[in-house]
Amino acid sequence: MKIKTAVIGLGHVNRCLLAILSAKSDRLLRDHGISFDIKMIADSRGVAINADGFNPAELLLRKSAGATTADFVGFRDAVPVESLLGENGIDLIFEASPVDLRTGGPGLRVARAALQQGISVVLANKGPVVLALRELQALAERTGAGLKFSATVCGGLPVINIGRRDMIAGDILRIRGIFNATSNFILDEMATGVSYSDALAEAQRRGIAEANPSLDVDGWDTANKLIIIVNSLLDGDITLADVDVTGISDVSAEMIATEAERGNVIKLVASANRGRFDVAPRILPRTDFLSQCRGWEMGVELHTDIYGKNYYKLWEREPTPTAASMLRDAVHIFVGFQRPTSRSLVG
Ligand SMILES: NC(=O)c1ccc[n+]([C@@H]2O[C@H](COP(=O)([O-])OP(=O)(O)OC[C@H]3O[C@@H](n4cnc5c(N)ncnc54)[C@H](OP(=O)(O)O)[C@@H]3O)[C@@H](O)[C@H]2O)c1
Repeated sequence: MKIKTAVIGLGHVNRCLLAILSAKSDRLLRDHGISFDIKMIADSRGVAINADGFNPAELLLRKSAGATTADFVGFRDAVPVESLLGENGIDLIFEASPVDLRTGGPGLRVARAALQQGISVVLANKGPVVLALRELQALAERTGAGLKFSATVCGGLPVINIGRRDMIAGDILRIRGIFNATSNFILDEMATGVSYSDALAEAQRRGIAEANPSLDVDGWDTANKLIIIVNSLLDGDITLADVDVTGISDVSAEMIATEAERGNVIKLVASANRGRFDVAPRILPRTDFLSQCRGWEMGVELHTDIYGKNYYKLWEREPTPTAASMLRDAVHIFVGFQRPTSRSLVG
């Protein structure tokens, strides 16, 4: 199956996706009978269309060297992506443009237009999911398009999949988590004497921090992930207005050191419990599961009625696992859930 694909946003996440598509193309064909034919690309400069398909490795190389879509064959100046999808027979969109929590930005416009035309959408961009999940789900249902967004929460951690697919007849009673690797890394680094600004700079260098780091350190990114989890796993319909949000900017090195002497750590924790939703720095005993989420790790606890208490964590230092989640979502849309046939222990 050859999937005509549009890659929207060519930043850290989708460049990792291009690297995966390039490295794993044989494997995807062998295990799942699927290949991704990149017909359309878009960045801040505009959109380019190539009927013969863009080579992902070449795309990655040129984009990493500073090229824009204007430097590629098939550049279309000042034409919105959404107006070009149908006429180019696009089947799937990988959407990873910058998050816009006010209007949804290009991500929401493109997702809407695609789903209306029966084109499947895989999102890493949280904006459309936070602002319009119900609307997008209704559109997808009406046209039969696929809509998946597991990369929007905790990168490679399949928390959305576990909650939606693997807890049949179960209720989730309580959720707690560390959903933002940048703020978690900063707090850990501060505990070892590194300054707040040096730690943030390192997160930015690795492409983990948001383009606007206030989203990370002021708790908004964590709150958005909590909203996505609640609305997609608990059938909630909450917005940012329902979440009490406090970030880490008032947490000082002295506070961290004082708590360390008492056997505690300070973590930015999201919580959904009995209809209350909040994000705030919390003092936790060193033995707490979330205290064990160190540095580049994110973690989530799902307390359920019949599946026990689930504890998951992920180490993600660069956005490759996030990109891999996008690939996983696309494969689930087009071929369903299949066990890979050629997996073995390597390394
Ligand atoms: N980084 C992570 O670890 C991570 C994890 C999970 C989710 N996400 C989400 O994934 C998305 C992308 O993150 P990122 O780290 O890859 O961001 P990024 O490095 O800042 O890249 C954003 C990309 O979007 C392009 N862009 C800007 N405006 C656009 C527009 N109007 N239409 C199409 N493309 C446009 C940019 O173009 P130029 O190349 O021309 O600048 C750039 O290629 C964000 O929504 C983020 O919240 C990120």
